[in-house]
Amino acid sequence: MKNVLIFDSGVGGLSVYQEIAKLLPEQPVIYAFDNAAFPYGELDDDVLVSRVCGMVSALCQQHDIALVVIACNTASTLALPHLRKLLTIPVVGVVPAIKPAAAISQSKVIGLLATPATVKRRYTQQLVEEFAPDCQVVMVGSTDLVQMGEDKLRGEDVDPKRLGVILSPMIDKVDCIVLGCTHFPLLKSEIETLVGGSCRVIDSGEAIANRVYMLLKEGGNVASRRDSLHRVYSSAPVNREHELNNELSKLGFGEIKRAPTF
Ligand code: DGL
Repeated sequence: MKNVLIFDSGVGGLSVYQEIAKLLPEQPVIYAFDNAAFPYGELDDDVLVSRVCGMVSALCQQHDIALVVIACNTASTLALPHLRKLLTIPVVGVVPAIKPAAAISQSKVIGLLATPATVKRRYTQQLVEEFAPDCQVVMVGSTDLVQMGEDKLRGEDVDPKRLGVILSPMIDKVDCIVLGCTHFPLLKSEIETLVGGSCRVIDSGEAIANRVYMLLKEGGNVASRRDSLHRVYSSAPVNREHELNNELSKLGFGEIKRAPTF
């Protein structure tokens, strides 16, 4: 059966994988991460586009892929048109859930928590102009929070003080926070504890999983039985690889292998 390729700079895309696996537990998945260029939120635009296009198209040449998920807001808000020109299969991107946040918010003051690059993107400005014109959007771009997601997936505890410093511009000011980076749903319970029950915390994961399900169904590619582990590829040697492999095995993945050079 054909694979779904899920791509990110690091472990963030695993939050999207978890949503996809809820709907499509038998679908074979290839998870690929470009740790050689991590963090994407600090990368120049042209470098980011060429990394995403290079690594994803190399993997698509080597494997039988039904659909690609760019499980990275930083990459999706910039590289999708370039990638779609290169590939003939569907490419699903993950972008900040500004529209549902604006609909949910009573106070019309919402927060966007993303990477430094995503908060600055023209694409993000356009999302706000189109879907949240009546809202004030408090934006925080944080690579530190991305790193905390990486550390958590290697078994480390989240330091609530460090989290509190990052979230301080939003606490008691917004009634809905958009997790506009796929690393952040990995920290959702800690974020919710910090901001309290009166503030909703939302992300795009479930909507993306629904879209993936629909596209696979349309293409006749929904798998009904999987008899091997999911595969994982990194672009460089992995920091604390043993710890990460431990977490990945709990999610149904085999050991991390090196991606083809591109
Ligand atoms: N997980 C990524 C995102 O959704 C990017 C994290 C990074 O490498 O900066 O934006």
